This record gives sequence, structure tokens and C-alpha cells, in this order.
Amino acid sequence: MELLSKIATNDGHGENSAFFDGWKAYDSDPYHPTNNPNGVIQMGLAENQAVARFMEKVRGNRVRFDPARIVMSGGATGAQETLAFCLADPGDALLVPAPYYPGKRSRLNMANRIQLLPVICHSSNDFKITRQALETAYKKAQDSNIKVKGLLLNNPSNPLGTVLNRDTLTESLKFTNDKKIHLICDEIYSATVFARPNFISIAEILQENDECNRDLIHIVYSLSKDLGFPGFRVGIIYSYNDSVVNCARKMSSFGLVSTQTQHLIASMLSDDVFVDRFLSESAKRLGQRHKILSRGLSQVGIGSLKSNAGLFLLDGSEEGSSSDGINRKQYGKSKLEISLSFRRLDEIMMAPHKMSPHSPMSSPLVRART
Ligand SMILES: Cc1ncc(COP(=O)(O)O)c(C=O)c1O
Repeated sequence: MELLSKIATNDGHGENSAFFDGWKAYDSDPYHPTNNPNGVIQMGLAENQAVARFMEKVRGNRVRFDPARIVMSGGATGAQETLAFCLADPGDALLVPAPYYPGKRSRLNMANRIQLLPVICHSSNDFKITRQALETAYKKAQDSNIKVKGLLLNNPSNPLGTVLNRDTLTESLKFTNDKKIHLICDEIYSATVFARPNFISIAEILQENDECNRDLIHIVYSLSKDLGFPGFRVGIIYSYNDSVVNCARKMSSFGLVSTQTQHLIASMLSDDVFVDRFLSESAKRLGQRHKILSRGLSQVGIGSLKSNAGLFLLDGSEEGSSSDGINRKQYGKSKLEISLSFRRLDEIMMAPHKMSPHSPMSSPLVRART
């Protein structure tokens, strides 16, 4: 099976046009202060450097990220679409553990015509992603003659609000490695963990499993959740695969992050004192609000899945799967109405033209009525 999509392997993205000569010059002759002092200097990596350091910090500095492997895009949404373009052809499928963030399905499907096939997980074991569940989903696709190109994990998970443990991540890595399919980890909520267990990135697991094929591993990230600015549209692809980095960079012109935004985030993320304070204060406040909300829900008889991350709670009172395996009980049942009654929020809601379509305020998860 071809590892990458046709568009990534043929010249359909204009690889041979003069437009990319600058990139090619850098790719074939990169500057290095000692090994290649006469090489081509890439002038656009200062922001990547700041983002790489920030991603390391959020992961407790237990891993290193190479700024040259970072490609910016329009939010995690743009990052996922670009990756899907690089990895899969229309009609191919990605496995995705259910329940999952519903935006994934419509967007990947709409833009790339990629199918998302659910890996059915159960509330009886806190929606653990087991090897058996992965194998079952994979076999079902094979039986239907659908080509599976990868597994898409979301860690910490929206909508579960939980982190994947070391065993699950290792098993997922081994599964994708055995099947020779991609492992894409959407780590957009990595800095929203407010209680133990800590977040473990796939980057750490890869470090511990040297024998696995790195060309198959890709991380999707964005500043939308961890820094709370979805409107800035700063998305990140971090791929361990050189061809994917090259292809994604060429495609990134579809959703470039503005120079002004890049400049702003570079200076903000380079401020270690601010970043440290922001991350610890944000985790503290998320923990407090989680406690208030879960306590309030339990007082009116609504249980919720025990969680330690994210910006939401899952009504854990009952498991329910639709025919496509997606647990729809994340929106709860008709016991509670969450009303956002702050005047400012009302005003914002009434003025959709002022909001980014990616703002959490327009998310069905925030406006859930149960
Ligand atoms: C798991 C997950 N991935 C991606 C996104 C999209 O993020 P962005 O606003 O950076 O495009 C969201 C937004 O809610 C999400 O929850």
C-alpha cells in the first residue's frame, strides 16, 4: 500500500513550478553553522522555534521538537485537512475512536472526502481504546474493501476530557506500525490537564519505541485551546516524515497564518515567565471550574465521566451508540438546560459576524441543551 496520497507523491501540487525553487534550494542545501556554513538560510523558522519550545514545555521538557518539522496552518482544522491531503486519497479511511469531536467528521469528509470509521469504545471501561477494538474496526474496513490509511487519536480527548495512558498509546503505536498505517495524534488539549494523571505525548512514546517507523507518526496541534485564542487560527503540523513536511509546507499556502499573528505568538511564547504563569493559572482555574460544574451536575442527579482535562464534561450516565458507532450521549439527556446568561456572552451570541466560526462559543459542545 502506498504510504502517502497521490497528490503528495505526484507533481499535482506544482512541485516542478519555479514557485517552489526557493524551498527546494533550502531542502537540498540547508544551512548549518558548522557542517554547511554556505548553505541556504531558511528565514521563516523563528516562529517555529518559539512554538517548538512551547510544545516541549507543555510536555514537561521530556521531548525535543525540531522547528524545521513544524508546518503552520489555519488552526488544527487546517492542520488535519492538510495532513489528510498528504496521507490519503478520496475514499480512503482513517480509524477514529468513538466518541469523537464531531467537527472532525464533517470537515475531513467535506474537504478531502476521507471516511472516518469509528473504533467502538465502551463506557463500561471508561472508553479505553483496546487492541481488540482497533483490530475489529480495521477488519470491518477490510471486509468492506475500504483502504485504511491511519488511526486518528485525540489526546486529551474531546469529548471525554481524559488523557490516554502509556499502555494505550504504546499499543496504538504498535498497532499502526504493524499495519503500516499512519498514526495522527491531535494533541490540541495538551495544556488543559488540571489533575493527575499527567498528559503523555505520542512524542514520548515514540522515544521509548525506537524500532517503530517514524515516517508514520504525525502530531496535530493548535493554540486554540491551550492559549484560548481560537480566532487567531494558529494550527501546527509536526510530522516525523520528511516527505509529509515538504508536501504540507507546499500546501500550507491554502491556510497561512498571517505574518502579524506569527510575530505576535513568537514574542508571546518566547516570554518564559508569562508562559509558565499562564499555564499554571489556566490549569488551576480549569480544575476549579470542573469541580463546580461536576458538583452542580451531581446535585441534580447527573453523573459525569471522571475527567482531568479539556473544557467540558461528558454526561456519563448512560452509554448510547448510533448505527455509526458514535456515542451521542455527549450532549446529555433532557434533564438539564445549560444557559449562558451573562449579558456579554448573549451579546456576542447575537452578533455572529463578530466571531470566528471556530470560536468555542459557536460549538455545539458549549451550547448543548440536554
Ligand atoms: C479535538 C479537536 N480538534 C480540533 C479542533 C479544531 O481546532 P481549531 O480551532 O484549532 O481549528 C477542535 C475544536 O474544538 C477539537 O476539539
